[in-house]
Amino acid sequence: MERVVEIEKITLDNNYEISLRPSSWEEYIGQSKIKKNLKVFIEAARKRDEALDHTLFFGPPGLGKTTLAYIISNKMEANIKVTTAPMIEKAGDLAAILTNLEEKDILFIDEIHRLSPAVEEILYSAMEDFRLDIIIGSGPAAQTIKIDIPQFTLIGATTRAGMISSPLRDRFGMHFRLRFYDEEELSRIIEIASGKLHIKCEKSASLEMAKRSRGTPRIALRLLKRIRDFAEVEGADTINMKIAKFGLDELGVNEMGFDELDVGFLKILLESKGKPLGLNTIAAALSEDEVTIEDVIEPYLLANGYIERTARGRVATAKTYELFKFSQPHLLF
Ligand SMILES: Nc1ncnc2c1ncn2[C@@H]1O[C@H](COP(=O)(O)OP(=O)(O)O)[C@@H](O)[C@H]1O
Ligand SMILES: [Mg+2]
Repeated sequence: MERVVEIEKITLDNNYEISLRPSSWEEYIGQSKIKKNLKVFIEAARKRDEALDHTLFFGPPGLGKTTLAYIISNKMEANIKVTTAPMIEKAGDLAAILTNLEEKDILFIDEIHRLSPAVEEILYSAMEDFRLDIIIGSGPAAQTIKIDIPQFTLIGATTRAGMISSPLRDRFGMHFRLRFYDEEELSRIIEIASGKLHIKCEKSASLEMAKRSRGTPRIALRLLKRIRDFAEVEGADTINMKIAKFGLDELGVNEMGFDELDVGFLKILLESKGKPLGLNTIAAALSEDEVTIEDVIEPYLLANGYIERTARGRVATAKTYELFKFSQPHLLF
């Protein structure tokens, strides 16, 4: 079954996401500290007529990393080339990308924690000295040739800060961690997007959708789009509370914004009666891969205090026992 609040990868044919993607700071809601900093650094770089410093964004999927890269390119009036780490298979692939860049271009590499070591190696001197060190041949006859490349800006995005090697991390001048959005911010995002989709949305309805979006703009926009369909079928030109609630229930998104995977995950913890569970045990019980659990399910549950991660494993918090009306075990430690 399709996961309603599933966080999918952005693809180019994902039209609604492209068209709803903010291209200005005014439309980029929340993350105020990141915006404030970036505005300053962009202005400074422009004044010096230099490329912006290499920038790393990390945070769970759907929080606006790719969007930030596009806004930066917009504000820098620079070209942006977008790729993802798994697509850069060999050192030569990266060399080809880098030698084709122009002065002050932006190279956006998504999922940057997935670069292979050989490719990463090439990136070090490229980022630091705008130079490629390429080894030709092997053994005693091997030669290193150095090629100058244009001054560019690397923007990296990752869902897993912990998986980036420190030499790579250190070469980014700026690091930004995106946080989950609050209901007010998400409802603002929904309002702006509904304007673009030519449908009105009452405040109470946008707040209800916001509440059930797991703190994530991508989910908020997806819910909006589906609920707009319900409104259209009803012949309504406004999404009111009744339509929003009906739509959300039909979509199986519960009051907390949990979907079936979240609920499944939490129930496994509740049923363990306070015994901490390891990631692999949970993954097996849920039939999900560990990466999805760590990158997609857990960050929201952790940030909102539904679970805790201890050295011995994951446990549900008192809040979760209460929410699901499970009696809380008396823990012996
Ligand atoms: N701060 C924001 N304000 C408004 N819309 C946002 C914001 N962050 C993300 N979005 C919307 O959510 C969608 C997902 O964002 P994206 O940048 O693709 O996330 P990520 O790259 O972190 O997975 C985008 O299409 C964009 O329209
Ligand atoms: Mg992205």
